Amino acid sequence: MISVENLRVVYHDVISVLNGVSLRVDDGEVVVLIGANGAGKTTLLRSICGLIKVFDGDIIEGDIRSGDTSLLGLDSMDIIKRHRITYVMEDRPVFEYLTIEENLEAAAFSRRDGEIKKDVEQVLEIFPPLKNIRGKRAGYASGGEQQMLAIGMGLMTRPQCMLLDEPSLGLAPLITEELFRIIEGLNREGLTILLVEQNAHAALSIGHRGYVMETGRIVLDGAAEELIRNEDVREFYLGAGERERKSYKDAKRYKRRKRWL
Ligand SMILES: Nc1ncnc2c1ncn2[C@@H]1O[C@H](COP(=O)(O)OP(=O)(O)O)[C@@H](O)[C@H]1O
Ligand SMILES: [Mg+2]
Repeated sequence: MISVENLRVVYHDVISVLNGVSLRVDDGEVVVLIGANGAGKTTLLRSICGLIKVFDGDIIEGDIRSGDTSLLGLDSMDIIKRHRITYVMEDRPVFEYLTIEENLEAAAFSRRDGEIKKDVEQVLEIFPPLKNIRGKRAGYASGGEQQMLAIGMGLMTRPQCMLLDEPSLGLAPLITEELFRIIEGLNREGLTILLVEQNAHAALSIGHRGYVMETGRIVLDGAAEELIRNEDVREFYLGAGERERKSYKDAKRYKRRKRWL
């Protein structure tokens, strides 16, 4: 179980981004975190996985626990290896010049066991589209394939819990659907998931519980089916994925991905 208690995070010592966030992810759950651009969702994930300092951020108050252990001050490698929490960043960071297969092997760099090849095969079974292009450079893969690869790379660390940051961003609806089916399947196999999404409907429909974040605060939480029915959530987040005005940065990213599709 991961619990975040009253978390306050600032960037560059002054920019206050999380203003007392609390949430919980129980073992075996898919917990969905929705919220507009800039709400602080990515900041929360960076904080949980020990990467906030890399982005010039600081946790100035609160706690993050995995079971009984506080994760504060641990480095990200410890969090991956000992606490088995992996973070699949937004924007699909893959090594463009390596093949699909090489990317998966590279993601296991922290492991010293002899089962890496076996795990690569297993991950390729989970993502059939990747299996077909296993020898192809990741830079030539489509947006959907790159997202599958990013998740597959996360799986190569053998996580118990995966933090997933906006996996559907810029993907066509059919690809998103396929991706969410796979994510649901991973959860059924036992993976605990904290899923950040703008595509609230798709995410809540595979989630158990959800939280809504606005400018650094949780403003609403509940069972996924309650949130889907909630009037405010319906108005602001459901179906907003397509219509919502995206920031300039998002529009640019979206265009770049669209070229691969
Ligand atoms: N490294 C950083 N330095 C300064 N400000 C940042 C940094 N990263 C994010 N921010 C700011 O923090 C706020 C929350 O960002 P983020 O956590 O990325 O939100 P979300 O993922 O919900 O879109 C935004 O206003 C963003 O501009
Ligand atoms: Mg984000």
